[in-house]
Amino acid sequence: MNSVRRIARCFTGTPEILTWRKVVTLQQWFSPSCRCRSSDSQKSSSSSSPGQQCCVAVVGSGPAGFYTAQQLLKGDHNLIVDIYEKLPVPFGLVRFGVAPDHPEVKNVIHTFTNTAKNERCNFFGNVEVGRDVSLKDLRDAYSAVILCYGASANRTLGIPGEDLPNVISARSFVGWYNGVPQDKELQVNLDCESAVVLGHGNVALDVARILLTPVSILEKTDISEHALKALHRSQVSKVHVVGRRGPLQVAFTIKELREMIKLPGTQTVIRREDVEGLDKVIDDLPRPRRRLTELLYKTAVAPSSTDTRLWEQATKEWRLVFLRSPVQILHDNNGSVSGVEFAVNKLQGKPSQFQKAVTTDLRETIKCGLVLSSIGYRSVPLDSSLPFDSKNGIIDNENSRVRNEQGLYCAGWVGKGPVGVILGTMTDAFETGKLVLHDLHSGHLKIPERMKRDQLINQIKDKAVTFTDWQRIDCAEMAAGEKLGKPREKITDIQTLLNVARRS
Ligand SMILES: Cc1cc2nc3c(=O)[nH]c(=O)nc-3n(C[C@H](O)[C@H](O)[C@H](O)COP(=O)(O)OP(=O)(O)OC[C@H]3O[C@@H](n4cnc5c(N)ncnc54)[C@H](O)[C@@H]3O)c2cc1C
Ligand SMILES: NC(=O)c1ccc[n+]([C@@H]2O[C@H](COP(=O)([O-])OP(=O)(O)OC[C@H]3O[C@@H](n4cnc5c(N)ncnc54)[C@H](OP(=O)(O)O)[C@@H]3O)[C@@H](O)[C@H]2O)c1
Repeated sequence: MNSVRRIARCFTGTPEILTWRKVVTLQQWFSPSCRCRSSDSQKSSSSSSPGQQCCVAVVGSGPAGFYTAQQLLKGDHNLIVDIYEKLPVPFGLVRFGVAPDHPEVKNVIHTFTNTAKNERCNFFGNVEVGRDVSLKDLRDAYSAVILCYGASANRTLGIPGEDLPNVISARSFVGWYNGVPQDKELQVNLDCESAVVLGHGNVALDVARILLTPVSILEKTDISEHALKALHRSQVSKVHVVGRRGPLQVAFTIKELREMIKLPGTQTVIRREDVEGLDKVIDDLPRPRRRLTELLYKTAVAPSSTDTRLWEQATKEWRLVFLRSPVQILHDNNGSVSGVEFAVNKLQGKPSQFQKAVTTDLRETIKCGLVLSSIGYRSVPLDSSLPFDSKNGIIDNENSRVRNEQGLYCAGWVGKGPVGVILGTMTDAFETGKLVLHDLHSGHLKIPERMKRDQLINQIKDKAVTFTDWQRIDCAEMAAGEKLGKPREKITDIQTLLNVARRS
C-alpha cells in the first residue's frame, strides 16, 4: 500500500472507498501549511457554543467509554460528550489487551473513530482522572459523569513465591507484548523449557498461544518488537495451562480452544482420565458448553486424523491440567523459579458448570522456569470519595447508577466486573447511555454553568492529546510498522507518544 493510501486509511479506515479527490485533500492536509488546522479546534470545546447545551463526561476510552459516548450522541442531538483518557492513546484493551494475532477483533476501532470524529465529541487523552483532574472537578462541571475506566489491576494468588522473578501476571505479560508503556521494561526470561499458566480463561489461552506460536506468524502482526525479539530467542517448548476445577468449568471458549488445538508445530495433550464420564453428561449441557465439552472430550479420547497428523510434526506441546490449585512457587538456590507445587482438588456437587473445587491432602509439582498467573483482572477506586465494592472489585452501583451519587454512572468492566467480551461490554454501555439520557431528559440532573466545563478544559488543554493528535500517532505507528512488514509498530514510550502527537 503506498504511503498516501496509508495516510488516507488513518482517516477513514476504509481505503477501498476513497476517491482520488479525498486523497488529494488529505495530502493537502499533510502539507506543512495545512497541519495547524486541527479539526479539534473547531469542535464543541470552544466556548462560543450555545450556553444551554448539556455536557457529559466519560472517563476511559475503551469499548465501554466509546459505546456509551456513541449512545449519548445518537440519543440527544444537542449533547456534548467529553472523553477523558489517562493514556495518550485511545481504545483501552482493544489496543492493549486483544491479542496481536486477532486483528479482526480490533475492527471496532473504526466505529470508535467515527464516534470521536462527531462534532459534539471531544477526546482528551493523557489526562488521568484522580490525578490531573479530580472526580469532584468533573462532577461540578458536567451534568453527568460516566465512569468507564476498566480494570487496571489483577487478582493475586496470595501464595509463597508469588513475588519471585519470572512469576508474572498475565496482565503485565499481555501489556509487554502489546506495547503498554508501563510494561515495556518487564523482565521476561524465556530461557526455560517449561512454563506454567495458571487459570482456565481466554486470557490464559491468549498468553499460552503467544508463547507457542511460531515467530514467523507473530512477526506479521502488531506485536511489539521487543517481545518479538525475546520470543524469537525463546526456549519454551512446553506450556501447562492449569485450572483449579474440571473440564466442565473451564472459562475459555470454543474458538480459542480450537485455535490452540490447531496451533502449527504444537501438540495438544488432554489426559483421557480427566474427561472420563463427560460423554454421559454432554447431552444435558446448554449448547455453547456442550460444543466446548464435546471438543475437549474428542481431543482427549479420539482426536481427528488431521489433528493427529499435525501433531506428528510437533516440536512443542501444551497440556490442559485440571483440578490443581497452586500452593507455592518453588525456586532453586539462585532464586530462580523451578516449579509450582499444587494441591490436588476434587469437585463437590452434581456434575455441572457450578461445581466447586475442594483441596485434598495430595500434592504434586510441575517443574517450570516461568509462571504466568492468569486468574483475572481487578478494578481499583480512582478516588476515595467513590463508593467502591472492594469484595467484588467494582464500583458500588445499581444497574449502572453509582449508589447514592446523583449524576454519577459506570459502565463496562469497572461496573460489572472483569468478565465479558467486547459485545457484552457494548450492550452494557448502550444501556447505560440510555439510562443517562432518560435521567437527563426527565430533569433529574443539574445543568452546571458552561463556564465551569470551559475552565476545566482550559486547565488541561496544554497537556491533553486530542483525537487529531492521536491520528498523528496512528499514522506514525503504521508507517513504522510498514517498514517492518507489520500492520503497526506501537510507540511504547509516553514522551515519544507526546512528541509525535504534538508534531506540527
Ligand atoms: C488480554 C485480554 C484480551 C481480550 N481479548 C478479547 C477479544 O479478543 N475479543 C473480545 O471480544 N474481548 C476481548 N477482551 C475483553 C474486552 O477487552 C473487554 O470486554 C473490554 O475491553 C472492556 O471494556 P472497558 O471499556 O470496560 O475497559 P478497558 O478496555 O480496559 O478501557 C478502560 C479505559 O479507561 C482508561 N482509564 C483507566 N483509568 C483511568 C483514569 N483514572 N482516568 C482516565 N482514563 C482511565 C484506560 O486507560 C482504558 O483506556 C479481552 C480482554 C483482555 C484482558
Ligand atoms: N478471545 C476472546 O474473546 C477473549 C480473549 C481474552 C479475554 N477475553 C474475555 O475477557 C474476560 C477476562 O478473561 P480472564 O481469562 O482474565 O478471566 P476469566 O474468564 O474470569 O478466567 C479466570 C480464570 O482464573 C481462575 N481463577 C480465579 N481465581 C483463581 C485462584 N485464586 N486460583 C486459581 N484459579 C483462579 C478461574 O477459575 P474458576 O472458574 O474456578 O474461578 C478461571 O479459570 C473474559 O470474559 C474473557 O472471555 C476474551
